[in-house]
Amino acid sequence: MALERTFSIIKPDAVAKNVIGAIYNRFESAGLRIVAAKMIHLSQQQAEGFYAEHKERPFFGALVEFMTSGPVMVQVLEGENAVAKNREIMGATNPADALAGTLRSDYAASIDENAVHGSDAPESAAREIAYFFSDEEVCSRTR
Ligand code: TYD
Ligand code: MG
Repeated sequence: MALERTFSIIKPDAVAKNVIGAIYNRFESAGLRIVAAKMIHLSQQQAEGFYAEHKERPFFGALVEFMTSGPVMVQVLEGENAVAKNREIMGATNPADALAGTLRSDYAASIDENAVHGSDAPESAAREIAYFFSDEEVCSRTR
């Protein structure tokens, strides 16, 4: 299978818990390679734009407030089946439903502060990567 890329965010709650390295370990142990990364503090506009697909949902305001509450790590992960593999490592949106050993089971406190974001499809991955990184910033092994 060809290499695939996905987009990941370590959210403000997990950055505050000081588990960036622990989460990177999970990615690497699963065979995903970090090919771009930076720490940023999202502006309200950046957070609203990133989550635009959810703007009519009742949780949108709280989600934007949470995502702008502190710094996040954004990264591009590359590997075989990267989109699905990252979603598997993350676990369900609601940590109460997440399988034991997943990131959300281990590090998330609630559905609205759930430690990590991961793209849900190759198309959203491409859009989300481009939202935060230029082509030159992605040190892909395929280039
Ligand atoms: P969603 O895309 O459904 O989940 P995922 O992050 O697993 O792809 O929702 C985006 C984020 O919105 C989710 O990570 C946390 C927040 N959210 C809530 O706060 N409450 C909710 O009921 C849902 C569905 C999501
Ligand atoms: Mg989603």
